[in-house]
Amino acid sequence: MILKNALVLQNSTSEVKKADLRIEDGKISEIGKIEEDGVNLSGKLIMPAFYNTHTHAAMTIMRGISDDNPFDVWLFKKVLPIEDKLNGKMVYYGTMLAMMEMASKGIAGFVDMYFFLDDVARAVEDFGMRAFVTRGLVDEGGDDNGRLEENLDFARRWNGKGLIKAGFGPHAPYSCSKEYLKKISDVAKVEGLPVHIHLYEASWEREKYDYREVLKIFEDVKLIVAHAVQFEDDEIRDLAKENIFVSHNPSSNLKLGNGVAKIAKMLKEGVNVSLGTDGAASNNSLDIWHEMRLATLLQKMKDPESMKIHQALEMASESGAKVFGINAGRIEIGMDADLIVIDLDKPHYKPIDRIKSHIVHSGMASDVFATMVAGRWIYYDGEFPTIDESKVVEEFEREYEVLMQGDGS
Ligand code: NI
Repeated sequence: MILKNALVLQNSTSEVKKADLRIEDGKISEIGKIEEDGVNLSGKLIMPAFYNTHTHAAMTIMRGISDDNPFDVWLFKKVLPIEDKLNGKMVYYGTMLAMMEMASKGIAGFVDMYFFLDDVARAVEDFGMRAFVTRGLVDEGGDDNGRLEENLDFARRWNGKGLIKAGFGPHAPYSCSKEYLKKISDVAKVEGLPVHIHLYEASWEREKYDYREVLKIFEDVKLIVAHAVQFEDDEIRDLAKENIFVSHNPSSNLKLGNGVAKIAKMLKEGVNVSLGTDGAASNNSLDIWHEMRLATLLQKMKDPESMKIHQALEMASESGAKVFGINAGRIEIGMDADLIVIDLDKPHYKPIDRIKSHIVHSGMASDVFATMVAGRWIYYDGEFPTIDESKVVEEFEREYEVLMQGDGS
C-alpha cells in the first residue's frame, strides 16, 4: 500500500514535512517521494497512532451509570453489583463498541483489565486492534475463586496470537492480599508477562498500604501502573524504573475526585508516562485527544512551562507503544505501521504551519479520518472495514437491555 500526498509528522520532536509512505507486511518500508499510484491523502496529515494504556473496554455498557458519586460509592455500590450480572456476550459487544469508539478517535491499541477474557480476546481478534488483555484479580476473604488460574490459562492460550498480548491484572493492593500479590508476581515472572495494577488512585489508599512494598513485590516484572495520583514529590523517583510504566488517566482522576497526578515532575524524573482513559463508566469517553489536552492543561495550572507540546504528543503515541513493547510510535522505516490520518481541512488547523500545537491544543478526535494498525485500516472515512458496524451496535443495545432487566434501577 502506498499513501500519497499527505503531510507527515514522523515523531513528537520532528517537523511536519510532505512525504509518501509505502506500507509492506504491516511495516513502513519507504518514506519520501514515491512515483507510483496510491491512496491520495492530500490535505491530510499522517502521524503515529495513539495508545490507550489503561481501560476496562467492556464498561461501555455501563457508560453514565454513576456520574456524580465519590469513588467508593461508584465502585462498591454502582459498578460491582452490575458487574456481577455480566456475561460473555455482554463483554464481547461492550468491548467491540469500545474499539469502534477508540478506532474512530485514532487509537491503535489498548491495555485492558476485565473478565470473560476469551470474549474480550475474540472481540479484539475480530476487530483487528492491538490489546494487552489482563484479568482483574481480587482475593477478598483469602480466596480468588480460581481467577489467577483462569488468567494464566488465558495467557498461555492467547499471548502472541495475532496482535493480542496477555498479562496479569491484580485489581489493586487494597483488594488483593500481600501474599496474593507475591503469588501473582511469581507467576508473571515465570511466564515473562507484565502485570497491570491500579496504584494510589484514591487518597485513602495511602492509609491502606505502602506503595514501596508493592513496587518491591513486582520489582522483577514489567509493571503497568494505572493512576499513580497520590505520589508525593519525593516519592516519584521510585517510579523512574525501566520496568515501570505509569498510565495517566486525568479525566477519570478528576471525575472520581481523586486529584491530579504530578506528571510534569514524573517526566522530569524520567518516569515512563503514557495516557489512558480508564473505563467508560468513569470517564465517560475513550478519547486520548481529550486526555492529552487535559493532561497538559492540568500541569500548566500552576506553571505554564511545565508541559511542552512534544511531551504531550509523546505520551499519547510513542510512550504508549513502549507499554506494548512494540516497534511503533514513530514513523520510520522498519517500524510497525500503526498510523492515524488527520483531516487538516478544518478552521482549527489554521495557520497550517503550527500543526503540532494544533493537534494538542485545538485538535479533536473527530478530526481523525483513518486509523491503521499493523498496515491494516480499522477505521477509514467514517467506516469500520473489519466489522459489521450496524450488527455490533444492534447487539450491544440488545445486551444492554438484558443487563438492565430486573436491575430495579
Ligand atoms: Ni481502572
